[in-house]
Amino acid sequence: MRAPVCAALLVWLLSDAAARDFTEEEMAAVRQRIKSMFYHAYNSYLDHAFPYDELRPLTCDGQDTWGSFSLTLIDALDTLLVLGNHTEFQRVASLLQDAVDFDIDVNASVFETNIRVVGGLLSAHLLAGRGGMELEPGWPCSGPLLRMAEDAARKLLPAFQTPSGMPYGTVNLLRGVSPSETPVTCTAGVGTFILEFSALSRLTGDPVFEDTARRALSALWQTRSDIGLVGNHIDVLSRKWVAQDAGIGAGVDSYFEYLVKGAILLQDQELLSMFRAYDRAIQNYTRFDDWYLWVQMHKGTVSMPVFQSLEAFWPGLQSLLGDLDRAVRTFQNYYSVWRQFGGLPEFYSIPQGYTVDKREGYPLRPDQVGSVVM
Ligand SMILES: *[C@@H]1O[C@H](CO)[C@@H](O)[C@H](O)[C@H]1NC(C)=O
Ligand SMILES: *[C@@H]1O[C@H](CO)[C@@H](O)[C@H](O)[C@H]1NC(C)=O
Ligand SMILES: *[C@@H]1O[C@H](CO)[C@@H](O)[C@H](O)[C@H]1NC(C)=O
Repeated sequence: MRAPVCAALLVWLLSDAAARDFTEEEMAAVRQRIKSMFYHAYNSYLDHAFPYDELRPLTCDGQDTWGSFSLTLIDALDTLLVLGNHTEFQRVASLLQDAVDFDIDVNASVFETNIRVVGGLLSAHLLAGRGGMELEPGWPCSGPLLRMAEDAARKLLPAFQTPSGMPYGTVNLLRGVSPSETPVTCTAGVGTFILEFSALSRLTGDPVFEDTARRALSALWQTRSDIGLVGNHIDVLSRKWVAQDAGIGAGVDSYFEYLVKGAILLQDQELLSMFRAYDRAIQNYTRFDDWYLWVQMHKGTVSMPVFQSLEAFWPGLQSLLGDLDRAVRTFQNYYSVWRQFGGLPEFYSIPQGYTVDKREGYPLRPDQVGSVVM
C-alpha cells in the first residue's frame, strides 16, 4: 500500500510545485546541494561545537541544550548512513560510546530524550550492519548502541512513577524527579514513547519499557472527553486537563503519530482503534474546509482558528493510513501558506490569511517536508 501512496503524493507535489519534471541531471544537482548543506552544518558542528549538544551559528561556539549528550551527533547518525558515509558513521558510533555518559546531574526532557537520544541510538543500532559496523554475536538483541539506548531509557523510567502512570515532563538523570517538579505535562509528553520503548523491550527482553509506555497510553485514553477529544496539558497526578484546547498541533501532535506508527510497527489493532476513534472526533469537530482548527475539548467549540507549522505532519499520517484524497487536500492548504511566505510561520490565522502576532518565526521545522516524503 505504501509505495503507490508515496509515489502518488510525490508526483502530485512535484508537478504542482515545479509544474514540470526534473531531469536526471537536475536531480543530481539537487542531491549534491543537499549533501553540501549537510556537510556545512555537520563539519561546522564538529569544528566549533563538539562535544556540546548544539552549535550556536552566530557566536560560532557550542552549548548544551537538551542534556549533555553531543546531541547533534546522535541526531546525525542515521543521516550519515542515508548519505552513504559509512566511515563517518562508524567513527561517530564509537566516539559516542566513549564520550556520552548518562550518569549526569542534568534535568532532561523525558520526551526529547526519548525521541532523539533513545530513538536515534536505536535506529543507528538497527542500521549498524548496513553502515558496515561489525555486529556483535546476538545482534539485533545485543550491541553497544542498544546498550546505550537502554541506559538512556532507564534514566527516564522514574518519571513514570506516578499514580496514573503518566510521566512528568522533566527528570534529573542522576536523581530522578525533583520534588519541586511540576506535574503538568503536555499530551505528546505522555503519549510519545511506544515506538522506542516497545522496540527496546523486544530487543532487550525486558518488558518494563513497553509496559511503561502502554500504561501511560491507556491512562491518557481514559481521560478523553465525552466527545472523544484530548486537551493540551494534563496534571499527571490529578489526571485533570489543565489546558483544554484540542487540536493536532503543538503539545499533542506526536501522540497521534505514535498511535498510528505504533499500530503499524507492532501490528497492534488496539492502538489503531484508539487513533480511529480520535480521528472521528477530530474530523467531526475540528476540520473545516480541510483545515484543522483548535476546539474546546469538552464542548467542541472553536477556540483558536489557527494552523501551526507543527500540524503539517498530519497529511503524511493520513497517507500512511491510505486516506490520500483528504491528505492531498489538506496538504494543498498548508502548501498555499508555504507559498505565501516561502516557509511556514509558526502560527497562521486561517480567517485572516496571515501570520499571528509574535508567532511569525519558522524554526526550520521538518514537518511539512515529512508529509511529502511519507
Ligand atoms: C564523511 O564525512 C567526513 C566528515 O564530514 C568527511 O571528511 C568525509 O569526506 C565524508 N566521506 C564521504 C564519502 O562523503
Ligand atoms: C533541576 O531542577 C530542580 C528543580 O527545579 C533544581 O532544583 C535543580 O537545581 C536543577 N538541577 C540542575 C542541574 O539544573
Ligand atoms: C459529531 O458532532 C455532532 C455535534 O456537532 C454530534 O452530535 C455527533 O455525535 C458527532 N459525531 C461523532 C462521530 O463524533
